[in-house]
Amino acid sequence: MAANRFNGYTDYGVGVGLRIPHYDHIFAEKPSVGWFEIISENYMVDGGQPLAMLDRILEQYRVVQHGVSLYFGSADRLNQEHLRRLKALTRRTKTPWVSDHLCWGSVDGTYSHDLLPLPYTWEAVRKTAANIREAQEFLELPVAVENVSSYAEFHCSEMTEWEFLNEVAERADCGILLDVNNIYVSSWNHGFDPLEYVNAVEAERVAQIHIAGHSKFEKYRLDTHDHPVLDPVWKLYRRAVERCGRTATLLEWDDRIPSFDEVHNEALKANRYLPQEMAGVSLAGAVSDDAA
Ligand SMILES: [Fe+2]
Repeated sequence: MAANRFNGYTDYGVGVGLRIPHYDHIFAEKPSVGWFEIISENYMVDGGQPLAMLDRILEQYRVVQHGVSLYFGSADRLNQEHLRRLKALTRRTKTPWVSDHLCWGSVDGTYSHDLLPLPYTWEAVRKTAANIREAQEFLELPVAVENVSSYAEFHCSEMTEWEFLNEVAERADCGILLDVNNIYVSSWNHGFDPLEYVNAVEAERVAQIHIAGHSKFEKYRLDTHDHPVLDPVWKLYRRAVERCGRTATLLEWDDRIPSFDEVHNEALKANRYLPQEMAGVSLAGAVSDDAA
């Protein structure tokens, strides 16, 4: 549980994803928030309203960048123009790390714009780790790689998803963004024990945790980010912080987005799941009684 170079930001506490419908509220009310996560691609532009809004946020808040299109697992070379634009944005935000997903999404320069699951093979470990290393060296920042939710898997896999994640992180010498909602969704869809996953992850590499809501269907779970966090996901979160210690935690809410206060209060419930020995060191902000 000791602090490490991937989890040296214990004062970040609980953050929420920065979303456009909340701009007016944030600028008017200046809520006390540990930090905001931005989707990098929304701000990788040459100017205009998105960057003007971001600069106003940066005047008052810490911002961490989260990306959705580096596709570390694609066989293609990383998109060099994308990396250049991403690096320029990191200089603006002073993000302490950059995250993106453990997935693939392009073939010969044609993009799926989706976070596709990888075959968990040694060949994929080597290629994915090499891409992450290249990104870290180019960006001159730590990268945290996030496990995705998935709805299909490959017969050719040679290891479990968590073994694959650990191997990639070790070879790339990168951090992990552990999305406990994604673990739960995938465990339900593929029939593995989500606790086994959380118990196996290299805790000292976990730089950040994602929590989110998902939707239940008869035969599968869907990662919709349009609900409060469900109880089984909070249980996984509790176990994750038992293993990883206090970790920068971020609630993702991307569809049917309610008021800022509703999103923020849902995120702050994370404080309740800190293990007993950490109860005296509450994360940023406090949960109001009506947020139960
Ligand atoms: Fe996530």
